[in-house]
Amino acid sequence: MNVLIIGTGGREHAIASKILQSPLVENVYCAPGNPGMTRDGVKIVDIKETDHQGLIEFAKKASITWSFVGPEIPLLNGIVDDFKKAELKIFGPTKAAALIEGSKSFAKELMERCQIPTAESKTFTSYLEAKRYIEEKGTPIVIKADGLAAGKGVVVAMTKAEALQAASDMLEKHRFGQSGHQIVVEEFLEGEEFSLLAFVDGEAVYPMEISQDHKRAYDGDQGPNTGGMGAYSPVPHISEAIIEAGIEKVIKPAAKGMSEIGRPFIGVLYAGLIATSDGPKVIEFNARFGDPETQVILPRLKSDLAQVITDLLDHKPVHLIWEETGYRLGVVVAAEGYPNQYLTAMDLPDFPEEEATVYYAGVQEEKGILKGSGGRIYLVESYGETIEEAREKIYNVLESKDTKGTFYRKDIGMKAINVFSKNH
Ligand code: AMP
Ligand code: GLY
Repeated sequence: MNVLIIGTGGREHAIASKILQSPLVENVYCAPGNPGMTRDGVKIVDIKETDHQGLIEFAKKASITWSFVGPEIPLLNGIVDDFKKAELKIFGPTKAAALIEGSKSFAKELMERCQIPTAESKTFTSYLEAKRYIEEKGTPIVIKADGLAAGKGVVVAMTKAEALQAASDMLEKHRFGQSGHQIVVEEFLEGEEFSLLAFVDGEAVYPMEISQDHKRAYDGDQGPNTGGMGAYSPVPHISEAIIEAGIEKVIKPAAKGMSEIGRPFIGVLYAGLIATSDGPKVIEFNARFGDPETQVILPRLKSDLAQVITDLLDHKPVHLIWEETGYRLGVVVAAEGYPNQYLTAMDLPDFPEEEATVYYAGVQEEKGILKGSGGRIYLVESYGETIEEAREKIYNVLESKDTKGTFYRKDIGMKAINVFSKNH
């Protein structure tokens, strides 16, 4: 079969690579993809992820068996609805179901309806009303733009001044445009953060192994929020009981609730959770795979991903088999300056296949040489029996390279090591 992946980044590279391993698959295309992917045999197609008509025409011309959507923007633009109208198979939620990610207030209403544990919150469009609520609740408190903001529309405010500033930036100064015309003001949750993803087919859910992202730009969780600077899977200090609670009290009721309200969810459902002393609570839902979580989750998957997606599209039950031991860890290499204005066009080092697995994101190719072109440029992924071993492999490789014009966090996975050594 021929498969089309929609999207450009490291997440899509990891999905495409996994699907290419399947004996069922002849060609994997990625639109628009990036030139780094071609090193693994992915065929890139120069059609933007927002060009639904162009993608539909390509899918027909290239005899694509089914397509898979990586990022949230095409989902929220209704790409799944458009492909279905054209009688093409595609894996991902409809526009109506993707709203679980597209609107934080919608997600909050769903959680209330289904009694899914989450931070206490209230939605506002008026600055004065938000201000009153912030003053009543005190700090720390979390201010979130209602719509999509690429992980940057969330302010965890430690002081009242910061909280009011964030609310005013969004509601009065329109810093996030339409996304911030409505805000959610939310209770600050304390605890370890982790990502629980599941393949969902209506009310049937198939959980994946959990992972932990590193959202801040710099070591020690300092600096601005980013799309994610590194991840590892599984997360040893999150207990089975917490994961089970995440599946039973979050993922399953969310899937059931979406069906009940006439927005059945088919695709990957991502719950961002905080393990509080009261059990796991939701801080966000996404309607897709996470980036960089995917780059450490999918290498652990031993099942044939092309078969899994084929079965899900036929509404057949699937059985996921995972690596039984060890850890997968991934470190993002980003352009100097990211997540603000960043450098581009720096030469990137070569990574021979036997040295490391690399998933490319913001890259361009000039005369056969890869150069940086985006904020997050690539991720180096590795397996270790322990997190220390996986870390060592990656950092040894990275330190041996010329990484001029880029930076990466040196502490990916350290939280697990620190918590573990504290408890033993
Ligand atoms: P989000 O874009 O919703 O994932 O939020 C970005 C980051 O803000 C998260 O990764 C958390 O670290 C933090 N955050 C979001 N909501 C809360 C909350 N209610 N309590 C504490 N931290 C939060
Ligand atoms: N890594 C966080 C996300 O994909 O939303």
